[in-house]
Amino acid sequence: NLPGYVKIVEVGPRDGLQNEKEIVPANLKVQLIKMLVSSGLSVVEATSFVSPKWVPQLADAKDVMDAIRNIQGVRFPVLTPNLKGFEAAVAAGAKEVAIFASASESFSKSNINCSIEDSLTRYRDVASAAKELSIPVRGYISCVVGCPVEGVVPPSKVAYVAKQLLDMGCFEISLGDTIGVGTPGTVIPMLEDVIHVVPIDKLAVHFHDTYGQALSNILTSLQMGISTVDSSVSGLGGCPYAKGASGNVATEDVVYMLNGLGIETNVDLEKLMLAGDFICKHLGRPSSSKTAIALSSK
Ligand code: HMG
Ligand code: MG
Repeated sequence: NLPGYVKIVEVGPRDGLQNEKEIVPANLKVQLIKMLVSSGLSVVEATSFVSPKWVPQLADAKDVMDAIRNIQGVRFPVLTPNLKGFEAAVAAGAKEVAIFASASESFSKSNINCSIEDSLTRYRDVASAAKELSIPVRGYISCVVGCPVEGVVPPSKVAYVAKQLLDMGCFEISLGDTIGVGTPGTVIPMLEDVIHVVPIDKLAVHFHDTYGQALSNILTSLQMGISTVDSSVSGLGGCPYAKGASGNVATEDVVYMLNGLGIETNVDLEKLMLAGDFICKHLGRPSSSKTAIALSSK
């Protein structure tokens, strides 16, 4: 009962880089984005319009957007935490934005410095401003199975936040296991609750591989009817406000698994690996993708 096509949302340039201490120059970020685009990815999250004090790595959001604004046929969503970020994003040419709430009160406070309810109020403003400009809004929920401070997160809490995001007009809601603690044992009950309130074709999953569970969780989600998957080239990433949140699942690993299942992605694995190689060389570290390691040592 698997989908014939999976839409991959590549989050490497944003989620992958946001936690890097050394600033990656804007022109290298742009080069990375272009290489990801040439691998066939149709959605590449490009950057964030957040406070540069909170995320210094992405302080060059405007420069990055300037350099990619004429690339056609690919969507480049950007994170916007508030109206200020939304307006800056639009001014920089963004045609799609993402808002990011949390299912955990503590994580909401440490990530965006406010309660879940306050964030939803803020996001309603962003969503209605976006609606006026016909800009699609993606909604994220962090900590959908576990929180670094609170531990277990109840599925009902995730379903509540998901419904709020849906009601404010999000076209897609990405469920993030920010610290990668989920297994199919916790992911299935969470998805069951969320599916009650959000149509399955509006859901995406966003797993981190901290405990090596990401691909199992993705396969389980596909079996439940989800067909949009977030991933990060070379497994780059980690959240600055969630200790232990190691890499996002690697796009190369996701593509390898989907190829094996005969599921279309339109992504060329070899070209994708070139993008991974490029950024890993720059960061001076080996890829976190098992597929990239295996295929490049052949
Ligand atoms: P705050 O300090 O409460 O905000 O931060 P404030 O409104 O009091 O403003 C403080 C300063 O920030 C002011 O500047 C504002 O102008 C400025 P000052 O007067 O001090 O010079 N400011 C901004 N500057 C640029 N762009 C903006 C903006 N807003 C205010 N949009 C705020 C609140 C939300 C701004 C802050 O907490 C923030 O930027 N947080 C972002 C954190 C972030 O990006 N986290 C990572 C993304 S979430 C994630 O990774 C999880 C996810 O990937 C899913 C998963 O992996 O599971 C989605
Ligand atoms: Mg992530």
